Amino acid sequence: MQGTAIAQPNIALIKYWGKRDVERNLPAVGSISVTLRELYTRMRVEFDESLGADTLTVNEAPDEIMLPRLASCLDEVAGVDRPRARIASTCNFPIAAGLASSASAFAAVTVAAAEAAGKTFDIDTLSSLAGRASGSAARSILGGFVELQNCDDAIRCRTIKDAGDWPLSVVVAITEKGPKAVGSTEAMEISRRTSPFYSSWVEQQQEDLDTARSAIAERDFEKLASIAEHNCLKMHSIMWASRPPMVYWNAATMRCLQTVRQLQGEGIGVFFTIDAGPQVKAVCLPEHVDVVEASLRSTAGVADVMTTGLGEGARLEEGA
Ligand code: DP6
Repeated sequence: MQGTAIAQPNIALIKYWGKRDVERNLPAVGSISVTLRELYTRMRVEFDESLGADTLTVNEAPDEIMLPRLASCLDEVAGVDRPRARIASTCNFPIAAGLASSASAFAAVTVAAAEAAGKTFDIDTLSSLAGRASGSAARSILGGFVELQNCDDAIRCRTIKDAGDWPLSVVVAITEKGPKAVGSTEAMEISRRTSPFYSSWVEQQQEDLDTARSAIAERDFEKLASIAEHNCLKMHSIMWASRPPMVYWNAATMRCLQTVRQLQGEGIGVFFTIDAGPQVKAVCLPEHVDVVEASLRSTAGVADVMTTGLGEGARLEEGA
């Protein structure tokens, strides 16, 4: 009655922001992401009839914050009449700081819980279950370049290019290690209710998805860079214009953008993207990764830098 799975976070190049169905956590828009390789969350789920309540440890310390969401994910996967579970999570990067820790956590727990419950699901079902817990987690079930499509009454994720077919690098500049003030779930609802730009965001998303999909198919870095930066800044402009306004950036975030602009001016193949947090993710051609990493590391206010390639989807851990 136990299963252990590992999943990597993903970084959206065309963002998910806003929900069309809060109850079922269905996104208002499709999205495209890259699954990372070196960052990971490992989840061990053990169902135990003798337990009176679910328990969770994160990096070996008891944790109450994530427990309710993880417990409802277990209910979805294994049924509400499941035994209580012992959940152990380990993660090698800062949690809840805009680094998609929820994506890797819910993708991993979905796969681990299915194994622990003795259930075999196809990829579409696993993505839907993970996405119900956290929209971006649906994409971490798969590897490489992943598109999440909004279907009639559901979502569907598919790999549109394997990691090995366009092995880009991602340099994450960490400008703040603490958790963010407003979680993305709440922030996107505030955006939907109050931002004057929200409806045009939803209307334009299909066009951005089409552009990014063709850039990825053609491995056209310039085209992908341009649409990804545009889509990212558009998402943040929705937040800035919300009431209350939500600005996740700090001064170092802005300095990292200047670093990326400077590198682009020197002919370096790099572009930025930023999620619901102050960290900057610089996506670059592998031959430029050293200069991008060194430049971001020496940018004032950058506390740490993590570099990663693109990786696989969530999977059970061998021998666990
Ligand atoms: C800015 O997947 O964390 O990272 O579905 O409410 O859990 P919930 O939201 P979540 O939102 C991710 C938002 C984003 C963009 C993205 O990953 O596409």
